[in-house]
Amino acid sequence: MESISIGLLGLGTVGSGVVQIIEKHQDKLMHQVGCPVVVKRVLVKDLNKERAVKMDRSLLTLNPEDILNDSDIDVVIEVMGGIEETRDHLKKALDNGMHVVTANKDLMAVYGPELLAAAAQSGCDLFYEASVAGGIPILRGLVDGLASDRITKMMGIVNGTTNFILTKMSKNGSAYEEVLNEAQELGYAESDPTADVEGLDAARKMAILSTLGFSMNIDLDDVKVKGITEITEEDLQYGKQLGYTMKLIGIAHREGEKVEVSVQPTLLSESHPLASVQDEYNAVYVYGEAVGETMFYGPGAGSLPTATAVVSDLVGVMKNMRLGVNGKSAVAPQYDKKLKGAYE
Ligand code: NDP
Ligand code: HSE
Repeated sequence: MESISIGLLGLGTVGSGVVQIIEKHQDKLMHQVGCPVVVKRVLVKDLNKERAVKMDRSLLTLNPEDILNDSDIDVVIEVMGGIEETRDHLKKALDNGMHVVTANKDLMAVYGPELLAAAAQSGCDLFYEASVAGGIPILRGLVDGLASDRITKMMGIVNGTTNFILTKMSKNGSAYEEVLNEAQELGYAESDPTADVEGLDAARKMAILSTLGFSMNIDLDDVKVKGITEITEEDLQYGKQLGYTMKLIGIAHREGEKVEVSVQPTLLSESHPLASVQDEYNAVYVYGEAVGETMFYGPGAGSLPTATAVVSDLVGVMKNMRLGVNGKSAVAPQYDKKLKGAYE
């Protein structure tokens, strides 16, 4: 391969981070995959917008077909967000033989099985490490690192925005609206933060985690959800006086074939390790029958942490391309075809 051509869908918080990492870590990427990585085209909504990264403006396009119909593009990186339109783009990319990397949990929680089936059909990779817990490599941790174990429970903080809000409200007594605005400015919140604060973003991530962790297809509709919109500063201060910290906690529990998944605000004793997870950081406990208790911790949102996961997925795709094992590799966080519910 002389070079790898990327079609980038989106140049916002995460897309800008992807461009920066590809540029700044080009030597590392070259070393790992043996050829340069080139961003060939970038889909945006507004051609004239000020960008966080320097970018040749002639690469920007408003027309997705400029990427999806370009046979020179090897990998589509989707960091535009959204569900229905984005599903169509990625389906087309996969049908056209392009590998796909996405950070989109909204999409993967709903259309993951369908898109993974399309990827398998066309022999392409579809990787989505950044869709859960930003920069923490938790999907590979579950699928590869704990491949030999049977996971029984996962519990943690998987939304950076709400953890940021609860931390600032509790520590500084800041007002909810003010901290939410700050989380938006820092690029942690979704473009519409409703899914963050109502717990749906965390529910989507818990659905993805439990699907992979338990090797079962977990339906998002079966996840019980309560967000943080009704939490007041008084609740937090009162909890604090009693030695408790409020966190938005996702729990997934498996007993035999029965799985329960929920997301809700929870009072944790201040000595609990999850109580010390601050700001936009995430942490997930994973319990395995053999390994016992493991904990994954790190930045759960933000430009460069999330882009690290995206570009690492890209490296995974490129390594597979060199080996000629795309769509088959065990390193891919894919659902197990043989298990009940998957690929239906
Ligand atoms: P932003 O809103 O910052 O960026 C979205 C980008 O996509 C923008 O460049 C926008 O164009 C472009 N875009 C959006 N819709 C369209 C469309 N219909 N057609 C063409 N271009 C479009 O989002 P983020 O970067 O924050 O998030 C991107 C994805 O990554 C989402 O799925 C999000 O859930 C996920 N994610 C985000 C994290 C974060 O910390 N922000 C962490 C983990 C995952 P323009 O710039 O012209 O408006
Ligand atoms: N809005 C999400 C969060 C981004 O705050 O966790 C990371 O998925």
